[in-house]
Amino acid sequence: WGAYVSFLLYEKKVKLVVMAILPIIKAPDPILKKKCVKVERVDNKIQELMDDMLATMYAAPGVGLAAPQVSILKRIIVIDVAKNDEKPNPLKIVNPEIIEASKELATYDEGCLSFPTHYVQIGRSARVRVCYLDSENKQKEIEAEGILSTCIQHEMDHLDGVLFVDHISFLKR
Ligand code: NI
Repeated sequence: WGAYVSFLLYEKKVKLVVMAILPIIKAPDPILKKKCVKVERVDNKIQELMDDMLATMYAAPGVGLAAPQVSILKRIIVIDVAKNDEKPNPLKIVNPEIIEASKELATYDEGCLSFPTHYVQIGRSARVRVCYLDSENKQKEIEAEGILSTCIQHEMDHLDGVLFVDHISFLKR
């Protein structure tokens, strides 16, 4: 564990946030195969957890992290697919549901923080529309394409105990 301190500009107030780096569960830990439950309300506890998940993801480093990867069986994912030379663009997504997914697929080399050094090419919907609760417990919708679409689908799979390597064996069957 490590901890570090960061200032966030939050509703025009500067809030002191202490974020923790959480241990990341690695395969084949059975926690990764469990199904996560919905979050009833996004409260302070959930907000703190999402800040810790982002800190953990950035430190790894990675572009996405799902709550079960830090041993929390709740439907929460965090993502930031901004490139190194771009401004950070953290997404905090609670109870995500896919409303629409394109038939057209896009293939990316995927990695997973629970499988260090594994990279696998997987075809997923090129575009998705997803509804979710944001960090203020508000219902939101996002349209994603490219790497963001793939990343959202990868992280959402984690919430149902599905791992990227499961897609491979499925295709080979
Ligand atoms: Ni993953």
